[in-house]
Amino acid sequence: MRIKSRKANRRRTLTPSPSGVLVTFEGTEGAGKSTLIRKLKERIEQSSDDRLAQREVVLTREPGGTAVAEKIRELILGHGMDPWTELFLYEAARAEHLAITVIPALKRGAIVLCDRFTDSTLAYQSHARGLPWKSVKALNEFATQGLHPRITFHLDLDPAIGLARVREQTRFEAEGVAFQAKVRAGFKKSQKEDPNRWVRLDAQRKNADELADAAFEALKKRLTRRSGIRPPALGKRKASR
Ligand SMILES: Nc1ncnc2c1ncn2[C@@H]1O[C@H](COP(=O)(O)OP(=O)(O)O)[C@@H](O)[C@H]1O
Ligand SMILES: [Mg+2]
Repeated sequence: MRIKSRKANRRRTLTPSPSGVLVTFEGTEGAGKSTLIRKLKERIEQSSDDRLAQREVVLTREPGGTAVAEKIRELILGHGMDPWTELFLYEAARAEHLAITVIPALKRGAIVLCDRFTDSTLAYQSHARGLPWKSVKALNEFATQGLHPRITFHLDLDPAIGLARVREQTRFEAEGVAFQAKVRAGFKKSQKEDPNRWVRLDAQRKNADELADAAFEALKKRLTRRSGIRPPALGKRKASR
């Protein structure tokens, strides 16, 4: 094994040969996830650091992000159903999304900004709906084949404020503040299990631009850390399937 010089170890630069980075955004309905993702993309693309500005940025979402997964999204949002059915549909959409959109983008070296991911499934289907946490986690692992986000932002907001902002209601918004409060607690449980992956943003105290600035600074910091200069974060996932 080659031993790196101390100087090389101390280097704090963005990766010179970019590898993909998966960044996910979580929060209750109306917390500002979609707004933040759009603003963060602009900040990356307009960054004064070329190594960031030149990277491909992919915006995607769950459930969705491919033709088939968007169809599954319509099915989930349009119908009430058994919680297990709902869970399996989310995981089916996720497997498709990873295979068709996320993994190819990471292999190209893109920064993938994903609106909701595995933590939403834990927060909604387990913590709020009551399915066993371990089962949901296990199914998340199957659907992603072990791929974990490099960074997960939690837009933390009083669910009542978020719901009041939302104009178009799906059946999840219609379940009201008490349900969203359980979802919020579910995100906090996820954070306790894996604190290093999460960055909490106080969506109550900051406006949309301040949140985007904070997220951009956190992203830059993570990408310049030594742990961030590794090959694509593909986890245990095999390169081909
Ligand atoms: N920081 C913020 N402060 C006030 N309003 C916001 C903020 N972020 C987003 N909004 C507004 O709140 C609504 C929901 O935002 P959105 O980004 O769609 O939330 P989400 O994707 O989390 O459901 C939109 O009308 C948006 O313009
Ligand atoms: Mg949204």
